Amino acid sequence: MSTEEIDETLGELRISQKLLDATDGFRDRSKRRLSLPLGSMRDTRKSSIVSASSGGKGRRSSGCSIESWSSFDSLDEDESLPHPRERTHVNSKGFNEFCIRNIERHGLGRREIQLAELEMPGILALRQRAKEDKPLKGAKIVGCTHINAQSAVLIETLVAMGAKVKWAACNIFSTQNEVAAALAEKGISIYAWRGQTEEDFWWCIKQCLSGSDNWQPNLILDDGGDATHTLVSKFPAVAKHLKGIVEESTTGVHRLYQLSRNAKLTAPAINVHDAVIRTMVTNYYCQKESIIDVLKRSTDTMVCGKSVLVCGYGEVGKGIVSSLKSLGCNMYVSEADPICALQATMDGIRVVKVEEVAHRVDIVVTATGNKKVITRDHMDNMKSGTILANMGHANTEIDVLSLKSSEIMWEKVRADVDHIIWPDGKRLVLIAEGRLANLACAALPSFQISVNSVTSTLALVELYSAPLGRYKSEVYLLPKRMDEYAANLHLAHFNAKLTEMTDEQASYAGLNKTGPFKPQFYRY
Ligand SMILES: NC(=O)c1ccc[n+]([C@@H]2O[C@H](COP(=O)([O-])OP(=O)(O)OC[C@H]3O[C@@H](n4cnc5c(N)ncnc54)[C@H](O)[C@@H]3O)[C@@H](O)[C@H]2O)c1
Repeated sequence: MSTEEIDETLGELRISQKLLDATDGFRDRSKRRLSLPLGSMRDTRKSSIVSASSGGKGRRSSGCSIESWSSFDSLDEDESLPHPRERTHVNSKGFNEFCIRNIERHGLGRREIQLAELEMPGILALRQRAKEDKPLKGAKIVGCTHINAQSAVLIETLVAMGAKVKWAACNIFSTQNEVAAALAEKGISIYAWRGQTEEDFWWCIKQCLSGSDNWQPNLILDDGGDATHTLVSKFPAVAKHLKGIVEESTTGVHRLYQLSRNAKLTAPAINVHDAVIRTMVTNYYCQKESIIDVLKRSTDTMVCGKSVLVCGYGEVGKGIVSSLKSLGCNMYVSEADPICALQATMDGIRVVKVEEVAHRVDIVVTATGNKKVITRDHMDNMKSGTILANMGHANTEIDVLSLKSSEIMWEKVRADVDHIIWPDGKRLVLIAEGRLANLACAALPSFQISVNSVTSTLALVELYSAPLGRYKSEVYLLPKRMDEYAANLHLAHFNAKLTEMTDEQASYAGLNKTGPFKPQFYRY
């Protein structure tokens, strides 16, 4: 796809200094402060909860308290409200197409969104560029993603670009109730709350797919494939009118390929999960920071000077090694692939078998995507105090199951930390029971979600405005042009200035001056 085509798709979205400058304000991170646990804050801005039994008369409102720490209080109030599906809901302007935990907490959610926006320059730049042209005018999008401050920035961007949206959560535990409230208060149809039952979960998705108001969605943004699956299996008539599906997760992409193979995909789909910029930021740069976050939050350990074994020197492993090495750790890597092993060696890391070093390292981190990489034998040989964390997808990289035997004692230390105690008193420190440690104990950076959100938005715009015939009902990767465009949108945040090739240079390199700059198979 050419630059012109992208620009045509997005309207007048050309990079202009003016717009790049507009994002300069996001560079000041000095004002950031540690976010307190979300659940411990209460907001009392004007809004209402109406109990179904009150017939709409039970409206409550109170003063605003947003400027001081005194607005922090207990979350229990939310939990004590009647179940969301047993109440009718209305915001302060009379809008009622939503179902959430507690609309009164919208002010708090708005502050969370504002905090996220500070670190989401790319998606805000896109919003700014597209708000006049409204490339999503007429689009009716059903979203099924995590609902948190960062995804709220994406949702509000889609609305600013002209789309109507209905949104459900892709996970029963991950919804930030106050953020859902902020979106509902703004007139956005949100069906989600933290702690849903499975039945609630599917009910919410169905509310989004089929509305009472002639709602006919034409785009899906999915994380995990549940909205797509429900649409295809339960609402075939609605599925026929779909212009496209954008999928964010590995699982969802896998399900899309299955649908495509069985000729059940009714619209073209774009797999944004594997967009280059997305994997680069998520797998390498984010894990570089996450590993420190995980170790510090869960164990308070001082990492410098420690001996650390990282299993796997792929994208995730490289990020982890690079950050721990820079902090002064003595690094070891175990690898199955000779190319990655050679790369580790040339990066100055000792490549070893796990059993060579298991007895003397202080920290072990797995990042292979494989199973039983750390076995019971390895753990039997580890010294007391060794910390074990898994940063790979599956919870079987560390053979945790083998630790669930009668002679081994488990002692909970913190929510996501256990002491695993051997009969002789030796104890290992296991983080998150071997589940993906950064998802369990650390936070996802808003910047990462900005990158992800831009790729998703570009994919939605592309599918919505593509001329008939450009895409079949198959699964596509994000065109490289869009990957480059998404990266470009984030450069201003760092005041980075791109070099433009001269005509002579472009012709010498056999490239179009405006990209794509690399072939599809290029490894960054
Ligand atoms: N923590 C996160 O937030 C996060 C983010 C992205 C990916 N992941 C997950 O992390 C894992 C690794 O991702 P990646 O992108 O680095 O994958 P990758 O394929 O680039 O790297 C994995 C490496 O592990 C090696 N390996 C496989 N089996 C091994 C074994 N038994 N012993 C030693 N090395 C072995 C492979 O040769 C490969 O080089 C995946 O499960 C991925 O889903 C986690």
